[in-house]
Amino acid sequence: MATKQEIFDLFARHVSSGKSKYFMSYGIDFIFGRREGPYIWDIDESKRLINCHSNGGVFNLGHRNLEIIKSLQQALDDTDIGNHHFVSTKRAELAAKIANLMPGDLKYVVFGVSGGEAIDTAIKIARKATGRKKIISAKGGYHGHTGLALAAGNAKFSAPFLSESDDFIHVPFNDIAALEEQLDGEIAAVILETIPATVGMLIPDNNYLPEVKKLCQRNGSLYIADEVQTGLGRTGKLWGFEHYGVEPDIVVIGKGLSGGIYPITATVIQSKLEAVFHEDPFLHISTFGGAEPGCVVAEKVLEISSSTVFLNRVNALSEIFQKGILELQKQYSSLFIEFRQKGLMMGLKMSSPDYGLFMSKACFDAGLLCVYSALDYSVVQFLPVLIIDEALSLEIIERLSNALSILKRFIEYK
Ligand SMILES: Cc1ncc(COP(=O)(O)O)c(C=O)c1O
Repeated sequence: MATKQEIFDLFARHVSSGKSKYFMSYGIDFIFGRREGPYIWDIDESKRLINCHSNGGVFNLGHRNLEIIKSLQQALDDTDIGNHHFVSTKRAELAAKIANLMPGDLKYVVFGVSGGEAIDTAIKIARKATGRKKIISAKGGYHGHTGLALAAGNAKFSAPFLSESDDFIHVPFNDIAALEEQLDGEIAAVILETIPATVGMLIPDNNYLPEVKKLCQRNGSLYIADEVQTGLGRTGKLWGFEHYGVEPDIVVIGKGLSGGIYPITATVIQSKLEAVFHEDPFLHISTFGGAEPGCVVAEKVLEISSSTVFLNRVNALSEIFQKGILELQKQYSSLFIEFRQKGLMMGLKMSSPDYGLFMSKACFDAGLLCVYSALDYSVVQFLPVLIIDEALSLEIIERLSNALSILKRFIEYK
């Protein structure tokens, strides 16, 4: 078997020299090996991490969830990708299941492979339905790295690729007046992550999203909820927007829908919006979107994630984390200045942008996989898998305490 150094060198030569150098420079010579439930082991089994990043929700149900693996294995007995032009039982059944779990008239589903693609689809539909071009999104918002999604996101990722556009307007999150000022007859849609994750887990004020919807309705614009991270139980409700009693015109689901096993995403639209495809139902195509094995996996994910027992457990865990982490905040108040939380969607705001990176490394040393926010380095994203028990939650809090003490000693030493 190749040594870790050989794998790092191979990766540097053929995938990314920058990433290889970055991880080595911080002493994170970790290569994903065995994985199971909340755990990931280094390829040589020298280290085990508890996943508190979960790829932003991909591993909501843990790594290699046995129920999901079984459903995929069964699907492979008699399906393959299928054909994206033809009528498909599996696509129809999954779409019906999603529609049943959505509020109001969100009854049609367009399938995709990545979150970015599903956001692109949402924006395309909004433009065609309204005959308008401009899109408003949040400053620091993140919707993926594909064409329209990239332009809707922060300039940090769009500017280097010359993908900024005057058709995309950015307003501060949680600021209704700023949104109202930009809304006019040219705005097709307002797209918002229910909780913007990449800019540091901003929690919306209770009246913010309902006000957004009301303003959109008044202006003839659509409200698109990006639920790629907040969907599927992460916040303690099946969909994050349910906390705010609001019904989006379009909902985008990704990440966790895959069960961490088979990529699949969904753009869920109100019935009236399906009319954009009446003239030509082949106007939008995705060869792998809604691949049949993925449909089977996603159905199982939805069955597990929508159960009351599952959601109750997320809420019970959320209370344990709240209690434990607020204690840590008191203890380390000069380093850790704010705890952001909705269910198990959590962020630890540190007192300096330097500390997000240091804290991610301290967490690694303490046995936790945590990643700082790419658009606010002072925030450590904290997203444990959702299927842990109380004992493991307490162990995670203990390890987080160790990480904070490592960080404190490091800063004092400096
Ligand atoms: C809120 C949100 N929307 C969209 C995306 C894009 O998803 P993908 O990476 O699958 O294209 C992400 C990815 O991190 C995300 O966090």
